[in-house]
Amino acid sequence: MTTITVCDTCNYAPGQKMLDDKTGGEILAGHVERLAAEKGIEVRRVSCLMGCERHCNVAIQEAGKLTYVLGKFTPDAEAAAAIIEYAERHGESETGQVPFKQWPQGVKGHFVARVPSV
Ligand code: FES
Repeated sequence: MTTITVCDTCNYAPGQKMLDDKTGGEILAGHVERLAAEKGIEVRRVSCLMGCERHCNVAIQEAGKLTYVLGKFTPDAEAAAAIIEYAERHGESETGQVPFKQWPQGVKGHFVARVPSV
């Protein structure tokens, strides 16, 4: 099963940790969790993925597949929808690799790393 790992301690934006007493990561995690529940995608929160120089980092993972780390999201419903859509394509892919033409617009420019499975 594809899992979206969301860092819940990430900044809201460059140089801005919080908005309305919540970190950017908490806000993004809330949006992702709401949408993922409808799709049967697992979401977990962690505190720090060590990508702190960027705001709003997430990882998309499944055992035996490539892991993708993405960041620099504006923590809103639109970004969450793009992350969810990408996670769905990742789940459908045998290797985790998603052809560029299937990438949702909202993930383009947000990739940080691709990690081979062990
Ligand atoms: S606080 Fe989110 S990656 Fe470090």
